[in-house]
Amino acid sequence: MVKDEIIALITEKRARIGVIGLGYVGLPLLAEFARGGFTGIGFEVDAHKAEQINAGTSYIGDVGSAVIKACVDAKRMSATTNFDHLGECDAIIICVPTPLRKTKEPDVSYILAAAEEIKQRLRRGQLIILESTTYPGTTDEVLLPMFAETGLKLDEDFLLAFSPERVDPGNPQFQTHNIPKVVGGVTDDSTNVAAHLYSQIVDNVHAVSSARVAEATKLLENTFRAVNIGMANEMARLCYALNIDTWEVIHAAATKPFGFMPFYPGPGIGGHCIPLDPHYLSWKARQHGFDSRFIGLAEEVNSRMPDHVVQLISDGLNDEEKAMKGSHVLLLGVAYKQDINDVRESPALSIIDRLRSKGAQVSYHDPFVAELNFDDAPTEAGGAPLRSTELTDAEIRAADCVVIVTNHSQIDYQRITDLAPLVVDTRNALNGDVRRASRARIIRL
Ligand SMILES: NC(=O)c1ccc[n+]([C@@H]2O[C@H](COP(=O)([O-])OP(=O)(O)OC[C@H]3O[C@@H](n4cnc5c(N)ncnc54)[C@H](O)[C@@H]3O)[C@@H](O)[C@H]2O)c1
Repeated sequence: MVKDEIIALITEKRARIGVIGLGYVGLPLLAEFARGGFTGIGFEVDAHKAEQINAGTSYIGDVGSAVIKACVDAKRMSATTNFDHLGECDAIIICVPTPLRKTKEPDVSYILAAAEEIKQRLRRGQLIILESTTYPGTTDEVLLPMFAETGLKLDEDFLLAFSPERVDPGNPQFQTHNIPKVVGGVTDDSTNVAAHLYSQIVDNVHAVSSARVAEATKLLENTFRAVNIGMANEMARLCYALNIDTWEVIHAAATKPFGFMPFYPGPGIGGHCIPLDPHYLSWKARQHGFDSRFIGLAEEVNSRMPDHVVQLISDGLNDEEKAMKGSHVLLLGVAYKQDINDVRESPALSIIDRLRSKGAQVSYHDPFVAELNFDDAPTEAGGAPLRSTELTDAEIRAADCVVIVTNHSQIDYQRITDLAPLVVDTRNALNGDVRRASRARIIRL
């Protein structure tokens, strides 16, 4: 049986692992298989990325170049743009992007492109796993019919499963090996073999009854975050209106040992997951005549946060008898979260756009992001790219307002409050000691 054949290859670490898409998800996964004693091939459409991997260089923060180089030197890892090598792989894992269309509908075209490459080379004895976040039903409604067109039979010839990725870029505590992995196959054999594969590199594998359950699990996780962040953001706006310290309220509530889980407000949600994934669920819900109201409400509240941040800046300037127009506003951090270089969907883009449209002179400093382009951002005020400025004393002093949009840990916040006249802190980056010693006027979200 094909199941036993693949299990034997995996157990003996003779299974060759193909990973399609070497980004934030695919590259760490490929590295983990290579470190775990397997031989892995990465498939990329971006030739530059493939060249970098083969030269032993990493472009993803969570995977060091030393790890890539060691795996490449040991001939356990290589990358290619030639998809013919898919035929050599016993397990193929798809980690390509799943963005939204302008209409906020799922764009599964990258999955379809990857699946088409697999289909052309599908052979007996292969296990295919989709990891890209997508709506429930993608694996069995979209991928299975494609692969079935080859004449090969599920369970007899090949296996097919979904396993959501939970990587948290920039999180040193939780990496691929110690984040429990959920696995759901289109058939029981698919589940069991996919679970066996991941158990070689992940401490804890949780098998579920179907690919749909695994797909829905990922969307529940990220929708849960979006909704709770929305709740925290609404609370922050309410506390601002009531002149109550939101952060103190959340920290106090978090002392409750049961029934409460802290979520924190911020300048808006960003990244490839939280702003996008709930739309995959609400789109699928609409197909079934179901209106997912929590998702819509969370999106509405979260997407208003950049406006609220601009309001805080405007209020602060106003108190100093300054107008927004012509003021110099310096943003600290433009990545969507701490200590990473990812600016996809970052609220900084919306904040800059709104500040520019009000006539502010905007600059930014981000140790992780050298240049910021506005190609995909709302650009009513014109989209001239910005370069990260050096954080000199003169630059901080020259700003009418410094806005902490991302709380990167290497910034000396004490120095900021020593030199700047006005600081808007959207991340609670200024701790109590810094705030008490501050010469700057501080406005917190
Ligand atoms: N980044 C995260 O934190 C995260 C976490 C969990 C889940 N996910 C999900 O994982 C998936 C991948 O996300 P990511 O952040 O790694 O994306 P990414 O953009 O960092 O990487 C995707 C890679 O796939 C490549 N690619 C695109 N089409 C391809 C094709 N047809 N063949 C081969 N390579 C192709 C791109 O060049 C890119 O290098 C998405 O569905 C995302 O929602 C991401």
